[in-house]
Amino acid sequence: MNSSSWQFDEFQHIGTDYESYAEVETYDNRMNKLRDIKDEAKCILCMLNLKPEHTLIEIGTGTGEFAIAAADCCSKIIAIDVSESMLKYAEKKARSRSVKNIQFVKAGFLTFQLPNESCDAVVSQFALHHLPDFWKQIALLRIYQMLKTTGKMYLKDIVYSFDPKKEDNFFERYITTLMTTGNDDLQYFVRHVNTEYSTLAWIMEGIINKAGLSIEWAEYKDEFIAAYLCSKSSI
Ligand SMILES: C[S@@+](CC[C@H](N)C(=O)[O-])C[C@H]1O[C@@H](n2cnc3c(N)ncnc32)[C@H](O)[C@@H]1O
Repeated sequence: MNSSSWQFDEFQHIGTDYESYAEVETYDNRMNKLRDIKDEAKCILCMLNLKPEHTLIEIGTGTGEFAIAAADCCSKIIAIDVSESMLKYAEKKARSRSVKNIQFVKAGFLTFQLPNESCDAVVSQFALHHLPDFWKQIALLRIYQMLKTTGKMYLKDIVYSFDPKKEDNFFERYITTLMTTGNDDLQYFVRHVNTEYSTLAWIMEGIINKAGLSIEWAEYKDEFIAAYLCSKSSI
């Protein structure tokens, strides 16, 4: 044991193992069926209002779809992920689409190193729930530090906004729907709920505010997906 052994090991995968290359391919195919990824990216990029000289950091880039879409809008993108397999997959995809301005870095919310106030925008989608709440707070404090004073953060994740007194009801209702539609997302949903660290909406909002970030816009969807556009405010 040493003085840093209390720190959370973000490289140890919890829930779905994104170090497995088969899982990475499955994830990419599943997301392309489930989401309109191009349209999502377009909306986020429109909200961020990026300029060609801007630097954007994506944390938990996964298979790289957002970073690749953003590559047309600004000169420098740093795409961060803790999974080597995700990074290799995303890098290959970027190469195949002749995208050259993305730097792929193996690091996470708690370990990436960037100078203070060095980036214009931070985007993270469906990745922060890999950290328990205390570490989510540390992650957002670190994001606050690296954003320029005019910087923006777009955060989307699985965040519970249903009434927790009705939690059985919510999960059972959702699982029953997935079972009746024969949807193969069922196993991922169950694994997410019982092993990963999604939090409640009021806690997520508190964590964002405590980090010194102001929520300019928020959207809650289906009582378990939340998106926030935040700007820097003084701590
Ligand atoms: C559900 S995927 C989301 C990928 C992509 N952002 C998307 O929207 O499809 C979660 C990603 O977060 C990564 N991840 C997990 N823990 C992380 C951490 N502490 N820091 C950065 N990325 C992390 C995983 O390796 C995985 O690529």
